[in-house]
Amino acid sequence: MGKLSVFLFVLSFSTIVNAGSGSHSLWALANYIIGETPFPEFTVVVMLDDIHVAYYDSNDKQPVYRGPKPTGKIHDELFQDGDYVFGIMYHHMKGRSFHLKHHFNLTGGVQVQQRMSGCEMLDNGEPALIMEKDTFNAIYTDQTLYYNMTHFTYDAGKLRPGYDGVRREYLRTLYGNVFLPICIRTLKTILKREKNAVMRKVPPRLRLIKKEVSGEFQVSCLAFGFYPRHINLTLLRDGQPVAEQELTGGEVLPSGDGTYQLRKSLEVSTEELKKRHNYTCTASHLSLDNKLDVSWESGAERVHLSTLSVLLVMLLVVILLGIFICVKGRRRTASQT
Ligand SMILES: *[C@@H]1O[C@H](CO)[C@@H](O)[C@H](O)[C@H]1NC(C)=O
Ligand SMILES: *[C@@H]1O[C@H](CO)[C@@H](O)[C@H](O)[C@H]1NC(C)=O
Ligand SMILES: *[C@@H]1O[C@H](CO)[C@@H](O)[C@H](O)[C@H]1NC(C)=O
Ligand SMILES: *[C@@H]1O[C@H](CO)[C@@H](O)[C@H](O)[C@H]1NC(C)=O
Repeated sequence: MGKLSVFLFVLSFSTIVNAGSGSHSLWALANYIIGETPFPEFTVVVMLDDIHVAYYDSNDKQPVYRGPKPTGKIHDELFQDGDYVFGIMYHHMKGRSFHLKHHFNLTGGVQVQQRMSGCEMLDNGEPALIMEKDTFNAIYTDQTLYYNMTHFTYDAGKLRPGYDGVRREYLRTLYGNVFLPICIRTLKTILKREKNAVMRKVPPRLRLIKKEVSGEFQVSCLAFGFYPRHINLTLLRDGQPVAEQELTGGEVLPSGDGTYQLRKSLEVSTEELKKRHNYTCTASHLSLDNKLDVSWESGAERVHLSTLSVLLVMLLVVILLGIFICVKGRRRTASQT
């Protein structure tokens, strides 16, 4: 259950990290578990953009950072901020979990409260937003908070009504003036440490794949092995972009090795495939100066085949004609003698 929830969490997380390519974000993905599981009661995974940079749990109460251990002033700051933020998170999520458990009359079993909480920074270093989202048992979204420097929204969720204006104002001040500065400060510190991982540029490799799927043909455009995740991938037919609604796929997925992949597929009927069309797959990516493309021409093999058979027929006709003339000539000489 815990593992499943973490999995769901990461899935829903990957759909949210879709912000502009110039900005960076820092997210804490936290789980609070009630009930017997092999997992610690409270765990947090910290992500810088899409890179897992730190881990914290209620057993060790010490954030563990990826790579070399932070030292000196950076160490003190990271660990102090971590202590403070994770401590508050732990108590808050624990409170919510018990409240919701009673609200739903859940007596036994495993209950999981999940929180996604973090901030985004513009590429000029200015804070862009802070947000938080809580989910109970991977089903009920029970609290959302969002502040983008101009707009503050807070929804206590249907599960805990009765939150008033005073509470909203308190949260706005707390998140805007306390958590946001801490989050941005931590983001900058970790960004400096992880510069090589976050700023790396790996160009996509591109394939145009034709295959038969239950009688229908599918022309797929596949880009893989690229980083960062932002990519523009277009399938063109005879130089015209194919409309997005005609395509299936289109979701950027992690490949598991720190790079991403994206596939866009077009169903093509057998009839259509016989026609001569030029399919082109083109990609633009931060790592590329120029667009990358691969092309394929449908109907071309058939054309070659029919050209070949026309040639064969013509050859046959010439041979037959030769034989005919030959035979006729021989007959003529035979009748003359
Ligand atoms: C929980 O139990 C109480 C009393 O037993 C009942 O009034 C309430 O409707 C129950 N709530 C749910 C969500 O089932
Ligand atoms: C903040 O969000 C509101 C509502 O979605 C939007 O109208 C506004 O332009 C946003 N402000 C910034 C600075 O992005
Ligand atoms: C198909 O189109 C692309 C771009 O539109 C072009 O570069 C390529 O040469 C064309 N291929 C054929 C076989 O016509
Ligand atoms: C993708 O296209 C959009 C709109 O044309 C452009 O703003 C963006 O920079 C492109 N992204 C990449 C990675 O080329």
